[in-house]
Amino acid sequence: MKKDRVLIFDTTLRDGEQCPGASLNHREKMEIARQLARLKVDIIEAGFPIASPGDFRSVRQIAKTIKGPRIAGLARCLNKDIERCAEAVEPAGKKARIHVFLATSKIHRQFKLKKDKAQILKQAVASVSYARKFCDDVEFSPEDASRTELNFLAEVTRAVIDAGAVTVNIPDTVGYAVPSQFGTLIADLFENVPNIDHAVINVHCHNDLGLAVANSLAAIQNGARGVECTINGLGERAGNCALEEIVMAIRTREDMFHLSTGIRTRELHKASRLVSRLTGMTVQRNKAIVGANAFAHEAGIHQDGILKKRSTYEIMRPEDIGIDGSQLVLGKHSGRHAIMDRLSKMGFKMKPHELECAYKRFVELADKKKNVYDDDLATIARDEMEEVDAVYVLDYLHVSTGTKTVPTATVRLKKGNEVIQDAACGDGPVDAALKTIDRITGIQGKLLEYNIQAVTIGKDAQGEVSIRAAFGTEEINGKAASTDVVQASAIAYLSCVNRFLALHSVKRDMKRSKKKTSKK
Ligand code: KIV
Ligand code: ZN
Repeated sequence: MKKDRVLIFDTTLRDGEQCPGASLNHREKMEIARQLARLKVDIIEAGFPIASPGDFRSVRQIAKTIKGPRIAGLARCLNKDIERCAEAVEPAGKKARIHVFLATSKIHRQFKLKKDKAQILKQAVASVSYARKFCDDVEFSPEDASRTELNFLAEVTRAVIDAGAVTVNIPDTVGYAVPSQFGTLIADLFENVPNIDHAVINVHCHNDLGLAVANSLAAIQNGARGVECTINGLGERAGNCALEEIVMAIRTREDMFHLSTGIRTRELHKASRLVSRLTGMTVQRNKAIVGANAFAHEAGIHQDGILKKRSTYEIMRPEDIGIDGSQLVLGKHSGRHAIMDRLSKMGFKMKPHELECAYKRFVELADKKKNVYDDDLATIARDEMEEVDAVYVLDYLHVSTGTKTVPTATVRLKKGNEVIQDAACGDGPVDAALKTIDRITGIQGKLLEYNIQAVTIGKDAQGEVSIRAAFGTEEINGKAASTDVVQASAIAYLSCVNRFLALHSVKRDMKRSKKKTSKK
């Protein structure tokens, strides 16, 4: 690896997905992984295979199908985790990576792990050696490294490199570090770990104090050559170092860092929108690099300056991030073939019946809306690729609302061949529609989050509604888009209900099969 190259390790699908409310289904993870490959990240951390069968399946599928980046899976320092991870990343062949972690700080040793330093050191070395039996590319993370005693951190780092770790990641797990201190920590490791040149030093900074990017930059100025980050800074609590920010900081201030990444920056904006849409986590308007205001100039003096010379008020070119407007889809009279071709160019791998349904929806939308953009088409495609078989389908919705009217909804749902209709009042048209759905299904959902975002520009834009709802102890996400936002809300909520029912039936089947095996 060239000394002036910083490796970009994307953990959107692992740490990012740990962000409360940001869970993704299999197809969504695959779509993000494909975009990460287009972005040319060096490593995709695809998930935590032991965590659930769903995580295992996604990591394995990503390892099988995504070409270009290395594919990593996360594992605790436990043999069962490492074996499961090895099995999941195995299809990536030479590009497979096992990432093992174990906390090293005093607070974690004493209270979480109840182990002393010698036990931690032994477990870390044993796990790295065990992981190396399956894979040449093993990464080790001393969790909570930034709060670990320097001597012990250096000792662990030296030992795991001797045991075969080719990357050692230094996490600021709780986002406690500040840049000067974190930079010094990395410099001290380079001074105190004799074999450090045999590994790449990564950093993984959390954003609890809003310093994740600054800390990562301080680290690369002191020798770190890998940055673990996520699209839109998603992640546990306040999130991780934002990929788009660190990449553009390194590129824009090349004069300061004298470093580069391999990222295709023109894919950044698309990646940000995709992750925002699929996770339902809206990007704040003034977010650096990818926020809607990042290249908007309001003040007259600024606008004047921009018109005379862009670089008076712009340090980056919007086109370098891929902000050059949404692509116009062919139009109302576009044929089936053209639409299908466009979807496949956008990276959608759809089954024939899904393509057919997407085409019909496109025609319907083109009837209502003057311009249909790529983003509209992508939203339709995602809807049609819903993984869950719907128990309830919206057949009819009528709402009456106004300043002097009690908002009322009439809803008709189809359940197989059965058609069920009811009506209810609510605090507004959305509330009325959702209450009616509850009356019909007999399932009481509690709305935890409700977000609405325009899919494209224009007054006739589709509104995409993201909902998080609780059904008992289960929290489920659902999304839908339509030019009618009440309809989108009803469909998004129904998608939560259908996902809840699917989950319930999987759990019921698992219980039944457990009972059967215990009887045997
Ligand atoms: O924040 C952290 O320490 C982590 C590790 C698993 C790398 O996410
Ligand atoms: Zn983390």
